[in-house]
Amino acid sequence: MEKKYEKCVETCKEDSKVVSFASRIHYYPLVVKKAKGAIVEDLDGNEYIDFLASAGALNTGHSHENVVEAIKNQVDNFIHYTTGYMYNRLQVELAKRLIEITPGNFPKKVAFGLTGSDANDGAIKFSRAYTGRRKIISFIKSYHGSTFGSISLSAISLKMRRKIGPILNEVYHIPYPFCYRCPLSYKKDSCGMVCIKELENAFESFLPPEEVAAVVMEPIAGDGGIIIPPKEYVKRLYQLCKENGILFISDEVQQGFGRTGKWFGIEHFNVEPDIIVMGKAIASGMPLSAIVGRSEIMDSLEAPAHLFTMNGHPVSCSAAIATIDIIKDEKLVEKSRVLGEYALMRFEELKEKYEIIGDVRGCGLSIGVELIKDRKSLERNNEAAKKICYRCFEKGLILTFFAGNVLRVQPPLVITKEELDRGLDIIEESIIEYLEGKIPDSILEESKGW
Ligand SMILES: Cc1ncc(COP(=O)(O)O)c(C=O)c1O
Repeated sequence: MEKKYEKCVETCKEDSKVVSFASRIHYYPLVVKKAKGAIVEDLDGNEYIDFLASAGALNTGHSHENVVEAIKNQVDNFIHYTTGYMYNRLQVELAKRLIEITPGNFPKKVAFGLTGSDANDGAIKFSRAYTGRRKIISFIKSYHGSTFGSISLSAISLKMRRKIGPILNEVYHIPYPFCYRCPLSYKKDSCGMVCIKELENAFESFLPPEEVAAVVMEPIAGDGGIIIPPKEYVKRLYQLCKENGILFISDEVQQGFGRTGKWFGIEHFNVEPDIIVMGKAIASGMPLSAIVGRSEIMDSLEAPAHLFTMNGHPVSCSAAIATIDIIKDEKLVEKSRVLGEYALMRFEELKEKYEIIGDVRGCGLSIGVELIKDRKSLERNNEAAKKICYRCFEKGLILTFFAGNVLRVQPPLVITKEELDRGLDIIEESIIEYLEGKIPDSILEESKGW
């Protein structure tokens, strides 16, 4: 039966008249009406398996009953009282739990916010205040958010930077270690890790390390296309930080809360960050962010240096406490690892069959699948990404891409094996239809992508 999208399309048209274009990247006309677990229903009654999990914000799945109950209970008690002036039991409880689950066996404290971007701004503030230094190092291809501070850290799209300056100065970007597409054009295994040498060079020639407050790194570059850095690189970078009194900040907004098969992405690298930045999945879709850092760093600023009327909102805190309990009770960290390994294996099989797949990368249920034009040039295949994602949508799978050509596979961690399998089947069917020329070019106009 042909699917209908009339109500969805109508809403998109109205939306374009009244909502700013700056806040949405269009893939296809999906207007969410209902969602549960890993299944989303649109306004026209079509159902989808969700491989996006609201951009990684719903590791516990849509409307998990324990999260819903926690939210309802809190709303019945009181909705909000600013923690800018008064205290809140839930914030204390949540802070204790965050301190417990984050790596690092040292005293820690927490500062709350509303969304990943503001937490990165806070991390800049705390690291500058604590070290008394101004310079920050982050990475080309990184995405840290959309407030002025986090835009200054990010280096992924000129669209985020044009027309709005000046942004923060004293932020230096170095290449993210990306072996499949080495930004320095070296070959993996024979490069001698020239990328870390570049940084050592910078420290010797133009970037005084004693002026650097922090390095901010995504442990796995998410929007850059699920780029997993070599373990040795992270270890050496961390050592360089320690040798020079530079704070190491892990931005876990996308990779945290079980997404990679560990509580936090940085745990794959055996280093203990001085500050961990979190958001998205922390409260199963409620607005909340947190900065968890060494106590002495988190005590380096006085109020109101990082205070928002709504920070650590009680309803969000109640959802976050429920979220942590669910992740523990349902063993979602382990589930992410096991299902992730299975999905990676299936994608490797697809890579064997279809030349269009150039690389498959992943940790837990955080997987990127590179679509390329050919295996010699490795040219990014944006057309294939647009068409395949659109066809998946038509077949009942929410699949998007980032970095122009990388399929983003980040379903809720509660997804069942059957749902995962069906989603993977839909991807294969769509790849076949793309290769057979069955997906019309008109889609290229509509799907914008990222
Ligand atoms: C690694 C990372 N940091 C920060 C952010 C910004 O978070 P938010 O959009 O909640 O402000 C994102 C969002 O995608 C992200 O992926």
